[in-house]
Amino acid sequence: MMTIDVETLRTWLEEGRPVTVLDVRPAAEREEWAIPGSIHVDAYDALQARDPGVLAHVALPEDRPIVTVCAAGRTSLIAAELLQARGIRASSLEGGMKAWSLAWNVAEVPLAGDAVRVLQVRRTGKGCLSYLLGAKDEAMVIDASLDPQVYLDLASQYGWQISRVLDTHIHADHLSRSRQLAERSGALLLLPDQQRVSFPFTAIRDGDTIETSTLQLAALHTPGHTMESTCYLLNNHLLFTGDTLFPTGIGRPDLEADEQQARARASALYHSLHKLLALPSDTLVLAGHTSEPVPFDGIPIAARLAEIIEAVGIIQAPRDLFVEQLMMRLPPAPPNYRRIVTLNEMGLLPESDMTALEAGANRCAIS
Ligand SMILES: [Fe+2]
Repeated sequence: MMTIDVETLRTWLEEGRPVTVLDVRPAAEREEWAIPGSIHVDAYDALQARDPGVLAHVALPEDRPIVTVCAAGRTSLIAAELLQARGIRASSLEGGMKAWSLAWNVAEVPLAGDAVRVLQVRRTGKGCLSYLLGAKDEAMVIDASLDPQVYLDLASQYGWQISRVLDTHIHADHLSRSRQLAERSGALLLLPDQQRVSFPFTAIRDGDTIETSTLQLAALHTPGHTMESTCYLLNNHLLFTGDTLFPTGIGRPDLEADEQQARARASALYHSLHKLLALPSDTLVLAGHTSEPVPFDGIPIAARLAEIIEAVGIIQAPRDLFVEQLMMRLPPAPPNYRRIVTLNEMGLLPESDMTALEAGANRCAIS
């Protein structure tokens, strides 16, 4: 077999099956994003030129299959052919890193007691973190960023029916799948109160409690990254922060804003962060994104509030300095973010290739 699809490779990596992933893209592309554990040979030009000796010097373990990877799955096919000609079991990742954008893995957040389980569902190929919270026979999903079927399958594995679907804010980095998931599961769709989206939803306001018979989430309105941004606190212990607060950074305040608006949002973010800092310092923060490829290690990406205060010095700066520092550190805007925001406001997924629109790493954080 000359090709392997994303779902197969993802499953192999999640199951810990021995496989060597050989990335043949130019170095600059690999720096943007990569498959965790992959090895890299900058062989792109030589492969394009069909140089037969290009991979001859690469030491590859012989006891496991090789999967070659490039941007779209064409140059990696040449690499797989060359390796196969040498008698090596090699296949090429179908659709390349573009298709890999939808790959995911899961980590369970360890919790005392067994009444509630929290799964971090990580889009490793893009850095979006979503959450499936289940207890007894019911579940909620926060910030769905993958095909609804992923959450439906996971929930049914645990014997849960998804009854609530929530977003922390209107996303700019990925297409929210929450509306579609709510439709597919028959769940209630809950969004922070705002006038941005043009489809029906149940509004969440500061201090609201979102509950099932077994789960209780408290909503904390934390404007700044966006004005509707809301964090959800589970059992006074786990805090789902969306893009307001990350283990090593804070949310950028400037998307879809001019400089004056961005400063006002940075100032709002300052107050929002201090509202969160008033929570117990051992509160576990579970954010909406990470800027690194997510390993298949089953370890949740999370940090205690106390650790974040230590790691992110700017949080404790006085307000004016905080705003100035934030404005100086704004990263480049994510590609296509205006189009993504528009689609998320309309609650639509594009007919055509979603991964093309979502291309590139998450850029909602300032670290
Ligand atoms: Fe965001």
